[in-house]
Parts: sequence; structure tokens; C-alpha cells
Amino acid sequence: MRKIEANPRSLEIEYAIRDVVIPASRLEKEGHTIMKLNIGDPNKYDFDTPDPIKDAIRKALDIGINGYAPSSGLPCLVDAIAADERSRGNMVTPEDIVVTNGVTEALQMLFFAALAPGDEVLVPGPSYPPYITYVNMVGAVPIPYRTIEEEGWVPDVDDIVSKITDRTKAIAIINPNNPTGALYDAASIRRIGDIATEHDLFLISDEIYNLMTFEGETPSTADVCRDVPVITFNGISKIYLAPGWRVGYLAIRDVEDALIDIRDGIMRQSRARLCANSICQYAYFQALIGDRDHIRGTMSKLERRRDISYRRLNEIEGISTQRPGGAFYMFPRIDCIEEGPWKDDKDFSLDLLREEKVLTVFGSGFGAEHGSGHFRIVILPPEETLERAFDGIENLLKKRL
Ligand SMILES: Cc1ncc(COP(=O)(O)O)c(C=O)c1O
Repeated sequence: MRKIEANPRSLEIEYAIRDVVIPASRLEKEGHTIMKLNIGDPNKYDFDTPDPIKDAIRKALDIGINGYAPSSGLPCLVDAIAADERSRGNMVTPEDIVVTNGVTEALQMLFFAALAPGDEVLVPGPSYPPYITYVNMVGAVPIPYRTIEEEGWVPDVDDIVSKITDRTKAIAIINPNNPTGALYDAASIRRIGDIATEHDLFLISDEIYNLMTFEGETPSTADVCRDVPVITFNGISKIYLAPGWRVGYLAIRDVEDALIDIRDGIMRQSRARLCANSICQYAYFQALIGDRDHIRGTMSKLERRRDISYRRLNEIEGISTQRPGGAFYMFPRIDCIEEGPWKDDKDFSLDLLREEKVLTVFGSGFGAEHGSGHFRIVILPPEETLERAFDGIENLLKKRL
């Protein structure tokens, strides 16, 4: 039989964070132990879902939440999400919420509803890969805007303005940021909001790490930019340490019905895919109405790991890194990339894996233009693992330079 052609766009999909696992698994099969600094899943390290949230899963089974949920989400969860967003100044109502199978699904729904082929969306550079991949999948164009490394990876407002065209529809903000760990303050967000107002754009605000900050709080973009339409994302994965449960949401805070059709396109998709996992929705509801005491413990553990990582990486000749304000990532620069034997950052990460068994994600996986010459690590592993991994990076550089 002749080969049946695939959609060529599907063959262009890449996800560096998981793609790097393939060579690492090969090494593991050969008997090597790999120090994994690649995946943003706290549960792969010494963090676990809080007991009350696990208990909520058992309760959901007992009280019979085993059927389909309404397409936009279980009413109790939708109400709790709206109340939570309002407490942060994002004045949404339950009708503005769609519960999804993770923020990942929310992103797909939004981009499919908002972007026609050829439309452009400004995404942070470097960027969490789905902001590139999913925009490409619908035939639209992700345009990365620069974030300024030397200033802690804050958005470069002039660069944003210079990249707006008559095809631009939205500006995406990830705060705190993956992969850089940057935490943007209200003034930075407001400056982006002013650009959006001036050019009739809407804002996409991914706040999935919003309670995971080391100092200060994450401003709600919708609160700071009340005159701009904002679609906010959040979910259970990171803050509540349950990424495998796949629950998230999008919250549409419109202005003068600017998003009326996009909202309709999102709602239609939500109905066509029935609903998000109902049992896990119930657990997310319990998480939102329960206390959030576990976050303090998580962040104080992460703060120690961040401090160790920041010190150790900056002590290595040829590497430098910024200090993250939130989330659990760092995006160190390979200052010595020109001097070493490596073709590029991908080659560096593969060499580090083969030689020292340290698994990181190459920076260009977060967008070639702004990610090249870097690598991403997570600061989630226990301190001893981090120390050994940094010994490995140090060894590699000493050997190769
Ligand atoms: C910025 C950002 N958004 C979304 C996600 C994925 O969220 P979810 O697990 O809810 O699909 C991640 C996961 O790493 C992320 O870093």
C-alpha cells in the first residue's frame, strides 16, 4: 500500500523538554544513573500532592462524581475559580471560566479559537514551547519578543512594540516565567498593557506558577490591566503539586465584548470535547477552598535549592545565571560556547548528558532566537543531587576548555 501522507504540520511538532529524555533513557538502559534536571514535575522529586487534596479524590469516588461534568466545568469548581480570581482583582464571573484538561488544553483551545492562518501572537523569548508549537499548529505565527537577560529576563517593551504588525492579535505573558524563573512586577505588566490598549490587542496571561514566588507576589495581569481584555490561565499542576491529574482553566476577562467571538469559539470547543476529568476537578475544588499551607513548605525548600543553584552555577567558569524570582527554573548562559568544542547549546546539553550523566534541556528548545547559548535546569531535585549535577557541569567545562 502507498504511504498515506500525514499533515506536514504534525511532523514539525517538537517538545525539547521530553525529546531529551530519549537519549537519557538509552543511557539508563545501559545501566547509567542520570541526574535529571530536565522536567518541571515536582512529583518526580521529593515533593508530593498534599494529603487533603489526595483525600478529595477518594471522596469524589465515594460521592459518585464519575460521570461527565458540564463542559465548562463542575459548578462548584467554576465558582471557586471565579472567587479565587476575583480575590486577586481579576473581576470574572463563573460564566467566564472554562475548566480544561490542564493549561495545555486551554492553550490549544484559545489558539484555535483566536488565530486564523497567518495571524501573529507575540510570545516571550525564550518561551515555554507550546506557545510556539500550538500557534504553529493552527497555521499562525508565534513572534518571540526579547526578554532582557541582564535585567533578570524582564520583557523588552521596545522590542514588543517593534514587532507589532497588522496581523498581531495578542501578547502572551508567562509570570512567573518558564524557562527563566523571572517574576514580573505590576509596572512591567502595565507597560505591556499600555501597548495592548494602543494597538487593540488582548493579553494572554499564564499564571500557573503565581503562588510560587520567593519574594513578593505575582500581580494578576487582569487586575493590573483592567482596560485590556485578558485571558488568564492557571491550574492544579504546579501550585498543588498534581501535574498528572490534568486540570486547569482559562478565565476570560473581556472589555467591551472585544472577545465575544473568541469566547464563543472556546465554548464551542469545550462542548465538542465533552469535559475535563471530573474526579480531578472535584479535587481541584477542594484544593482551592482548603488551606494552602503546603506552599510555604514547598517554597522554603525551593528557596534553599535556588540559592545553592545560583551560587554554584555562577562559580563555574564559563557559565552565568540570573536569580529567579519564582517558579522552579533557571536558564543559565553558556558564556564559553564559542571556546568549547560544541556546535551549539544542543550539542552542549548532549555532551553533558553523555559525559557527566546530567540531563538538562538545551536552550534553543525554547526558541532559537532567544534561547540559543543557554540551557534550562529545574531546581526541584534534593540538594545533594543538585550539588552532584553542578560538579558534573564544572567537570565538563574543565575537561573541554
Ligand atoms: C508556563 C506553563 N504553562 C503551562 C504548563 C502546563 O500546564 P498543565 O500541566 O496545566 O497542562 C506548564 C508546564 O510546565 C508551564 O510551564
